[in-house]
Amino acid sequence: MSKNTDSENKLWGGRFNEPTDAFVERFTASESFDRRMAEQDIRGSLAHAKMLCDQGILSADELKSIETGLAQVKSDIESGNFEWSVSREDVHMNIEAALTAIIGDAGKKLHTGRSRNDQVATDIRLWLRDQTDSIAAELSRLQLGLIELASNNAGTIMPGFTHLQSAQPVTFGHHLLAWNEMLERDYARLQDCRARLNQSPLGAAALAGTTYPIDRNQTAKELGFDAPTRNSLDSVSDRDFAIEFCSVASICLMHLSRMSEELILWTSSQFDFIDLPDRFCTGSSIMPQKKNPDVPELVRGKSGRVFGHLISLLTLMKSQPLAYNKDNQEDKEPLFDAVDTLSDCLRAFADMIPVIQPKSDNMRKAAALGFSTATDLADYLVRKGLPFRDAHEVVGSAVASAIEANCGLEELSLEKLQGFSGLIDQDVFEVLTLEGSVNARDHLGGTAPAQVSKAAESALKLVQSRS
Ligand code: ARG
Repeated sequence: MSKNTDSENKLWGGRFNEPTDAFVERFTASESFDRRMAEQDIRGSLAHAKMLCDQGILSADELKSIETGLAQVKSDIESGNFEWSVSREDVHMNIEAALTAIIGDAGKKLHTGRSRNDQVATDIRLWLRDQTDSIAAELSRLQLGLIELASNNAGTIMPGFTHLQSAQPVTFGHHLLAWNEMLERDYARLQDCRARLNQSPLGAAALAGTTYPIDRNQTAKELGFDAPTRNSLDSVSDRDFAIEFCSVASICLMHLSRMSEELILWTSSQFDFIDLPDRFCTGSSIMPQKKNPDVPELVRGKSGRVFGHLISLLTLMKSQPLAYNKDNQEDKEPLFDAVDTLSDCLRAFADMIPVIQPKSDNMRKAAALGFSTATDLADYLVRKGLPFRDAHEVVGSAVASAIEANCGLEELSLEKLQGFSGLIDQDVFEVLTLEGSVNARDHLGGTAPAQVSKAAESALKLVQSRS
């Protein structure tokens, strides 16, 4: 077979005797999606080249020319003048080939002491670190909006639910701060993930390290990594950080899906607890009266695709032998989409939460339904000396009688109530009010408005302290 000119064009073409099959070329290429990491790829190359020069492996002139050439490539990419080529397979070889086309032989020396295996591992970590930082900022913005809304509604009474049945009155502020707790843990998980991914695989080369006297500490430092990774085989094969990110993203989106579900319920005419501004809703093409909460519905729906990406990545890595395998090229699309989806959903929420309009009268009315202060009556009897189990029984009978009379507990007469227990007195009516109920839960983590205001204040301090 004659040597094919096309294969000579490949940066790895030397040992090949025929051109790559056209379908295989397209099938094995990743440039259409990994070009998203071009900026990080160039950053990594600059750090590598500088280190090679400091170690005497490249001359100062060669470094200068690589720097100038990469700056040119970067600006071509940014301005849309870069010609991406599927025959160059991926972002790494597209950039390297373009560099060599611009600066000649010095470009061919850039790949000394490195492989695409440590290069890609470095690029994804740099890319994901950048994304993690923007996601963290968006998450904080959402939290700030949530905390402010909570603080403004520290005393707004709404029904609290268990089993989606009226349980006890709570405040709207307390409910919102429960959401904030979920997000606070998501923030902490994101930072944990960032700390573990922030290690430099550069220098692991193909799998075993390199014969050149490289300085891995220098490149790690230059790229803002906390340290170099410790084992070259692990460095080129590890994608835990991407799995961990998808897991963090999944948990966060699971939280957003729960909030979405509640927003959807609350905007229904059956609940009618809040109003969402028109700009976050859409209409129906057939039913003129409809105003649909599309944004929370989509966030609820989108959570599913990120759970899918987590499972994709776990399945991708399952049973892979050390070290690098081409399978790993499949890590990018799920990871990229997980990042995009989480960013968009956080943005939607951060924009929407501050403009939610609570309908406090409706919430209050709903809170009064379903004998929501029955536990308060039981606690009242306990304070008067009755064992809790007996109090539970007494209140159960009072509720049954109120159901029969089709009225609230507080609407039963004192005589009627005293028929259930002689311990009941006129002061019971204060206990049966919604305010009495929430104000009584006045301890750390409780729903009393005073506690909610305090909790909102410390939640705000926590978010502000990390900027
Ligand atoms: N495009 C590849 C990836 O995403 C880069 C590394 C390729 N390495 C190799 N030996 N083929 O994983």
